[in-house]
Amino acid sequence: MITPTRRIQVSIPRNPYEIIIGKGILENIGKELANLAIPKGTKILIVSNEDVAIPYSKVFVKSLKGNGYLPTLKIIQAGESQKTPKTIADIHDAAFSAKLERGSLMIALGGGVVGDMTGFAAATWLRGIGVVQVPTTLLAMVDASIGGKTGVNHKGGKNLIGAFHQPKLVLIDPCTLKTLPKREFRAGMAEVIKYAVIGDPNLFKLLEECTSLKSLDSLTDNTIEEIIERSCLSKARIVSQDEHESGIRAVLNYGHTFGHTIEALCGYGTWLHGEAVAMGMTAIGELAIQLGSWKKDDAERQEMLLKKSCLPTKWPILEIKNVLTCLQGDKKVKRGKVRFIVPNRIGEVDIRDDISDEQIAICLKKLSKG
Ligand code: NAD
Ligand code: GLY
Repeated sequence: MITPTRRIQVSIPRNPYEIIIGKGILENIGKELANLAIPKGTKILIVSNEDVAIPYSKVFVKSLKGNGYLPTLKIIQAGESQKTPKTIADIHDAAFSAKLERGSLMIALGGGVVGDMTGFAAATWLRGIGVVQVPTTLLAMVDASIGGKTGVNHKGGKNLIGAFHQPKLVLIDPCTLKTLPKREFRAGMAEVIKYAVIGDPNLFKLLEECTSLKSLDSLTDNTIEEIIERSCLSKARIVSQDEHESGIRAVLNYGHTFGHTIEALCGYGTWLHGEAVAMGMTAIGELAIQLGSWKKDDAERQEMLLKKSCLPTKWPILEIKNVLTCLQGDKKVKRGKVRFIVPNRIGEVDIRDDISDEQIAICLKKLSKG
């Protein structure tokens, strides 16, 4: 079934842009750039990896050429381990070879790794050229491609090197999810559930009405598009209010404070980011019950959605003192206070930095007992 294209405005002051969602719209890329008044003859560096370029770059390049653009394809290696300054240097070499100019463009065609790196390469080439995000994982569609956070990892931690660089356009073709491994799809679903809990009770209900959330096959075309649209609307609303994360944008870290600890202590790569976030959401839900800020019933409803997505919810075996030390190393710690996003009810959270180590330890003991 052909579904109509959905359009969302990201109203960031000075850098507004549109998110376009629609089945098959990969082949409209050339037309959409023309709609943005990007002149014919513009040089474009498409950055992708083989998983994505093999199935999708042909139609993409054809559309760009058909609209008078001059695309070059740069293939990088897949995976978080490649998210390094060395890969940025490779992308910059490709930009040099393609003779990109100030008015040229980079396009990220891939998941969050390709998106973050292409965004950063664009932010730093010639002191900043335009970038378009074309996300092909569920996580990148609903989260990484929107809001302008770009960057790479440093040996001291994830995403420590980076810049805010808003895209000119985000183009989402849900058809690309057909080739995405199921585990990656489920990891993206964790971020969708996050949006539902932090601010969209209607999305939460929609997810509750789905029989299963564990793969694309279990959802109708219309449902997956609505899930993506509602998630993008939430992200757009939040980043439009707080581009540089000086306030409300912190709510996007719901489940991430504990989640980052799991990723770091279990070893990066053991759990996908979304899986760690799923365990993190369960943990903060437990802490919220302990603090008396939300009801057991809401925590159970959240857990039901995570389980329906076949996401892990059980806290892994970790030394409590290591968890507390790791929490102190979180990027979001301010003057030694760990910041947690604590749910009050489905659709409402608070940003809190008043939770003591003792309270966290009590919660972790309970989680460790299962
Ligand atoms: P990813 O980019 O590593 O993609 C996951 C895997 O799926 C890769 O092997 C990739 O090659 C493959 N793939 C991608 N699309 C595919 C498709 N359509 N078909 C087949 N295979 C496909 O992982 P991700 O979860 O998309 O992104 C994670 C990254 O995003 C992390 O580096 C994280 O830091 C970053 N991130 C950034 C933001 C932000 O605001 N900038 C937000 C969240 C996450
Ligand atoms: N993924 C969190 C943010 O964009 O702020």
